[in-house]
Amino acid sequence: MRKHIVAGNWKMNLTFSEADELVGAIMDKLEQVTLDPDTRMIICPPFPYLEMVSDYGDDSYFTVGAQNVSDQEKGAYTGEVSAAMLESMELDYCIVGHSERRAYYHETDAIVAAKVNQLLAHNISPIVCCGEVLEEREAERQFEVVKRQVVEGLFHLTAEQMGNVVIAYEPVWAIGTGKTATPQQAQEMHAFIRSLIAEKYGKEVADETSILYGGSCKPSNAKELFANPDVDGGLIGGASLKADDFVAIAEAF
Ligand code: 13P
Repeated sequence: MRKHIVAGNWKMNLTFSEADELVGAIMDKLEQVTLDPDTRMIICPPFPYLEMVSDYGDDSYFTVGAQNVSDQEKGAYTGEVSAAMLESMELDYCIVGHSERRAYYHETDAIVAAKVNQLLAHNISPIVCCGEVLEEREAERQFEVVKRQVVEGLFHLTAEQMGNVVIAYEPVWAIGTGKTATPQQAQEMHAFIRSLIAEKYGKEVADETSILYGGSCKPSNAKELFANPDVDGGLIGGASLKADDFVAIAEAF
């Protein structure tokens, strides 16, 4: 069956020493609890801290992912980081198409698709984000928007490639706002995304795809959200910056 995943997206937060302290605290906390053996934790720090976080532990505690990757293979792209570089650091995951990148850095569905291709070519699982903004939900266009993001970003892949993709549904109106999607809203959208995958790739691939929820997920609402049959975990922003909260969310399974 598909994996349960609790991934922390640190975004552009923390100095090196703060990051070091946070991973140490997460490790301490993880030593005190027993997580469901099917739950995988992922930490996605900023690029400069990838090595430090990777050096911390073995995969039995958490795996490490990046927050972004270039859509180009290599060459004169100052400031960019390639999938080959991430692969050479033995990273397993990378977030792609986060709404902040779509909104502030003009990342289109075509760019998301190119980044997904780069990652898969370098044996890294993309965590592909999708989600509607408030006006789109108010206009009841959320399904149309998410369908477009999923189809344009992913449906050029083969079924085998699709088996290495994780999807994160992050309604933009719930990110960093304290406003969480209700468990019903999350389940409805996750089931919709899974049905799209089933239509294109068949039920087996759809059943194996982990679909995470993101947007003001915290210890107080994680249990209710994760109890839904199509919610396979969370992509956590703010709460992943606190060791107690991040581990408590992972304990929700
Ligand atoms: P918050 O948990 O801070 O709402 O952020 C969610 C998110 O964007 C994770 O990628």
